[in-house]
Amino acid sequence: MENIKVGVLGAGSMGSGIVQIAATQKHQTVLVDLNEEALNKAAANLKNILARLVEKDKIDQATADVIMGRITFSKNIADFKECDMVIEAIVENLEVKKKVFAQLESIVSPDCILASNTSSLSIASIASACKKAERVIGIHFFNPAPLMPLVEIIPAVQTSEATTTNSRTLVDSWKKVTVLAKDTPGFIVNRVARPFYGEALKIYEEGVADFATIDWAMTEIGGFKMGPFTLMDYIGNDINYTVTESVFAAFYYDPRYKPSFTQKRRTEAGWFGRKTGRGYYN
Ligand code: NAI
Repeated sequence: MENIKVGVLGAGSMGSGIVQIAATQKHQTVLVDLNEEALNKAAANLKNILARLVEKDKIDQATADVIMGRITFSKNIADFKECDMVIEAIVENLEVKKKVFAQLESIVSPDCILASNTSSLSIASIASACKKAERVIGIHFFNPAPLMPLVEIIPAVQTSEATTTNSRTLVDSWKKVTVLAKDTPGFIVNRVARPFYGEALKIYEEGVADFATIDWAMTEIGGFKMGPFTLMDYIGNDINYTVTESVFAAFYYDPRYKPSFTQKRRTEAGWFGRKTGRGYYN
């Protein structure tokens, strides 16, 4: 497995986490982002994370250097040429992802697996942009990817058995807990999580309680590790709102999944949460 070369497109929260996993698991990796600032930030963050692991005696400095040395940072998508698998983790927008998948196919080898880390978009639609749609699959990590054990493996109707088996075997070898999910809106986790966010937003909008009180109730009484508003700020309101909109539309506008103005306005204001310094909390 170690000789598999892994490409990751998008150096944001998810892409940099996925690259950290693959490089730690001894794969040569290529991290591509069109935005130089995002690449620099990802490189600095990865260095800090590895330094913290050294401090905590989880790895030694030599290992940290080797892991960092396995990652090539690039602005050029053509650097995926030698990759056996490319995992896409860019903006959650179907049209953009489709364009990127068609472009990826023109660069990589015929056997390269093309995976999307999408939280909610249809894998069948993404795959339809490729000539060899059977090599396309969803591999959905959770945030922060290096710490969260669960990974959803989502074959589209077009995906071949071999693509599914090889993808799952590879991610299993990264000591993750994989689960096969159907290509339905939100897959498993983001579907069952919708009411967690949606009801919390409704309770707030009905004036029953403020963000902090709802979070307190869900953690102290409900036993959740994070309250819904803390979690939305952690994920990013931009991402979380877009996923809600996409799941709502994909379920033929079932009112159970209706997005909320409270979150929409925060997203429009750029109050994404932790990544911008302000969300539901400041
Ligand atoms: P992010 O906004 O942190 O990072 C996205 C990165 O992609 C940015 O650095 C941007 O410069 C880059 N990018 C955008 N378009 C590009 C293109 N055409 N080519 C190359 N790079 C491009 O986003 P995040 O949170 O990492 O999410 C990425 C994907 O992962 C989305 O599909 C999202 O739904 C999914 N996801 C997000 C989770 C989360 O908790 N944030 C959890 C699981 C999946």
